[in-house]
Amino acid sequence: MKQKCYPPSKCAATACTDMAETLSLSATDKAGKYKELLPQLEALITGEPELTANLANIAAGLREAFGFFWVGFYLVKNDQLVLGPFQGPVACTRIGFGKGVCGTSWAEKRTQLVPDVDAFPGHIACSSASKSEIVVPVFNQMGEVAMVLDVDSDKLADFDTTDQQYLEQLAQIIQKHCL
Ligand code: SME
Repeated sequence: MKQKCYPPSKCAATACTDMAETLSLSATDKAGKYKELLPQLEALITGEPELTANLANIAAGLREAFGFFWVGFYLVKNDQLVLGPFQGPVACTRIGFGKGVCGTSWAEKRTQLVPDVDAFPGHIACSSASKSEIVVPVFNQMGEVAMVLDVDSDKLADFDTTDQQYLEQLAQIIQKHCL
């Protein structure tokens, strides 16, 4: 069986044997893509205790499947959100509680579905190319927000309740395996 890591000598023997090394994605519709992707992301993080590695792979998997403009995580550290693993252009490093779409998701403990970022009061424009956005909170076992998953598009109204449904499912997978 092929080794997953390179160089193989860097990997623990048990870590490199039986995991998929690529995503298998064939669906063309949005829901179909999520249905294919989520179990593969769950398999990828199952048994791996390193949070950074897991969030990095999830961000990469979402970008690979959907080609999102920006996808990544902001982690709660004391009274701020701090940029975590992401895919896309460089972004703001810190966001305050209740600030922007991400800080609002944290404060309100719920998903923010934003069809037009310019119409969202206090939106933080890390990139002027970002036109619509969805931010989903990820809760720890005590029900506190531990991080938010932020996905940006360079198209207006690119996210809908299908994205919300599956990204919230993904947040539960992250909670189950990583928090
Ligand atoms: N737009 C976000 C800031 C993060 S960037 O989009 C990556 C917000 O308003 O919170």
